[in-house]
Amino acid sequence: MVDIAPRPAKQGPGHDITHGLSPSDRRSMIPETGLREYWYPGIPANKVGKKPVLVKMLGSDVTFWHGKEHVVAMDNSCPHRGAMMYKSDCWWPGTISCPYHGWTFNETGDVVAVLGEGPDSKIHGKVTAKMYPTVTLKGVVFVWMGEGEPAPIEEDVPPELFDDRAVVFHSNVVWPPNWRPAMENIYDSHVQYVHRDSFQLMAFPIFQSGHSRDRPQLINGRALNMKTYQMQARVAFPQATYKAGDERPYQEHYPLADVLWPRRKNRLLWTWAFKWLMKRARRHPLITDDPEWHGGHHLPSMFRANYGTHMYTRWNVPVDEKYSRMFYFHTTKPGSWVGRFYEWVHFHLWHDWSMNYNFSGQDGRQMIYQYYDRPEKLSATDVQTIEWRKMVLERGRGLVKPELSNLSEAEVFAEELVQEMQAEMPASG
Ligand code: FES
Ligand SMILES: [Fe+2]
Repeated sequence: MVDIAPRPAKQGPGHDITHGLSPSDRRSMIPETGLREYWYPGIPANKVGKKPVLVKMLGSDVTFWHGKEHVVAMDNSCPHRGAMMYKSDCWWPGTISCPYHGWTFNETGDVVAVLGEGPDSKIHGKVTAKMYPTVTLKGVVFVWMGEGEPAPIEEDVPPELFDDRAVVFHSNVVWPPNWRPAMENIYDSHVQYVHRDSFQLMAFPIFQSGHSRDRPQLINGRALNMKTYQMQARVAFPQATYKAGDERPYQEHYPLADVLWPRRKNRLLWTWAFKWLMKRARRHPLITDDPEWHGGHHLPSMFRANYGTHMYTRWNVPVDEKYSRMFYFHTTKPGSWVGRFYEWVHFHLWHDWSMNYNFSGQDGRQMIYQYYDRPEKLSATDVQTIEWRKMVLERGRGLVKPELSNLSEAEVFAEELVQEMQAEMPASG
């Protein structure tokens, strides 16, 4: 049961945001425990030893246990009288025996023995437990959570998980918010503000998000690709927000408040000291240039970013109404064993902490203090959020498509701001 315990509440309690949204609000149309007809990362394979392990995901209790060759997954409720299967024993390879009356199932869920009843039990061959298909890739067990036939796994899982040359490190942590606000916490103007003092952004000066020049492009009905994803813009043009020709001063004046932000310039010294990091990132070829997997949102619930030196994937696995699990994948392609060793050390001693704890922990702390069930006023830099919600509702596998003919009031407001900004923008270079 250890694995489903949320990280203790340093970051505050999870709060139930489920019931306050108006039914016409698009956020309320997105299933609160996630899209089911997809593959998801369930558990690192090495966490499943002799005893089964329980993981709560998409509102379901899933028991993972070791089959003969690989980890398999089943519903945690025994089909006999509902005992919890994660308390079972696996007496023989490829079997699991319920702790209550000893019904024993094989890897396809068939009853092969009833230990409390005897070899002449008439149940044999007549009952099947609910199993979830699994595939283990790079040490992570992926589970098909849908009711229908499993979709091709390559549609849902990033290509490097199938690539022999790729080295993929992973870690995971449970956050207090529901998956919807957690998923919307991506690619808006919070990045520059919330993460301004993260170690990850050491090499970058603080800057403002600026004009919302680009709309994400829908690729294959599954991904929103950011052509000019900010990290690349930063790598290429450290003083710029989006593109060369759109450069802005480090400190800007806000006339209505009559203030400067950032307040001081001394942080530039720190930026200067870490400039070598940026140079290193710039020299690296991209991990993938497949537009579907290049960077941005991807269904069912992940965000990808190409940092040059590595590919970052944050896959948000809904736990229940109040919690979501962040599965991080960090992909590199070192060319030699020395490179592999370096990447291992780098990830375990530095990057996992700095990115997945220090940086992303800042996200976790902001979102739990959000009233997700209140009406919004969206700004021009929220277009990615608007497009994400639209992609989920219109393209989400297995969803009954709602009528989305009209933009909500908040979306119209954001659209007007985009138009205003674009009218003021210098011609693109
Ligand atoms: S409840 Fe599982 S064997 Fe009876
Ligand atoms: Fe963030």
